Amino acid sequence: MNTVKTVRELRAAVARARSEGKRIGFVPTMGNLHSGHMALITKAAQRVDFVVASIFVNPLQFGAGEDLDKYPRTLAADQEQLLQAGCHLLFAPTVEQMYPDGMASQTRVSVPNLAEGLCGASRPGHFDGVATVVSKLFNMVQPDLAVFGQKDFQQLAVIRALVHDLNMPIQIIGEPTVRAADGLALSSRNGFLDEQQRAVAPVVYRTLKNIADAIVQGRRDYPALLQAQIQQLEAAGLRPDYLEIRHAQSLRPATPEDRDLVILVAAFLGTTRLIDNLHLNLDTPA
Ligand code: PAF
Repeated sequence: MNTVKTVRELRAAVARARSEGKRIGFVPTMGNLHSGHMALITKAAQRVDFVVASIFVNPLQFGAGEDLDKYPRTLAADQEQLLQAGCHLLFAPTVEQMYPDGMASQTRVSVPNLAEGLCGASRPGHFDGVATVVSKLFNMVQPDLAVFGQKDFQQLAVIRALVHDLNMPIQIIGEPTVRAADGLALSSRNGFLDEQQRAVAPVVYRTLKNIADAIVQGRRDYPALLQAQIQQLEAAGLRPDYLEIRHAQSLRPATPEDRDLVILVAAFLGTTRLIDNLHLNLDTPA
């Protein structure tokens, strides 16, 4: 597996693969890779002949006071894992390579509606930063398909929308969330949890399952259902940012008549913000 740091080298390597008749798959990441990321690489490798991954901690999607500076940078370990998982090319650009004219004058991509509310409400500008960097990366790599984790459900919806709205000929694949044995969704941010917090963290997924079970059993009084579960999270020592039931396609608040639902949560455990979700289609047997 080759690692390249410039757009010029990236384009040359992808052009070589294309000239050999290969289909290109792409997995954008911010590094500090874990088995969740490896599942994305494996999925891409099953579908195409040449897998490109990127590692770029994108300053444009971090707000003031967020964890940009302490976001773990573990390039050597990441390269080793990517190689094992079947990645062919790693693009690991600098900030200057991605934003040569600085970030202030960077053209932005903004996806209305889907990017508002949920994480968009607590992290203003976050999804503009994601949509902008993903659009740039898509234009640099020009893949046939790209794979993203369903753990970032709202992010995936935003990326599907931008690809559709900007007529990008890229197939977007959402891969199911990889979980630890106790249910905690794998995330680079889990490394910030101390031992005691790590023991408490699985309550986040248990909360989603409790809500899903209640809905399957017929409950439709969503505000009361959510309020009770928010109290459970607080009792466990978390500070919920949001806990919501939304329509899975549009992400608008769910009505009791909706059948395709997603339950989404963001909650702070100490200073670490955990997010998770559970997709529940009442017309599809579990
Ligand atoms: O999900 C992530 O790791 C990032 O938001 C992404 C998609 C790589 C864009 O920086």
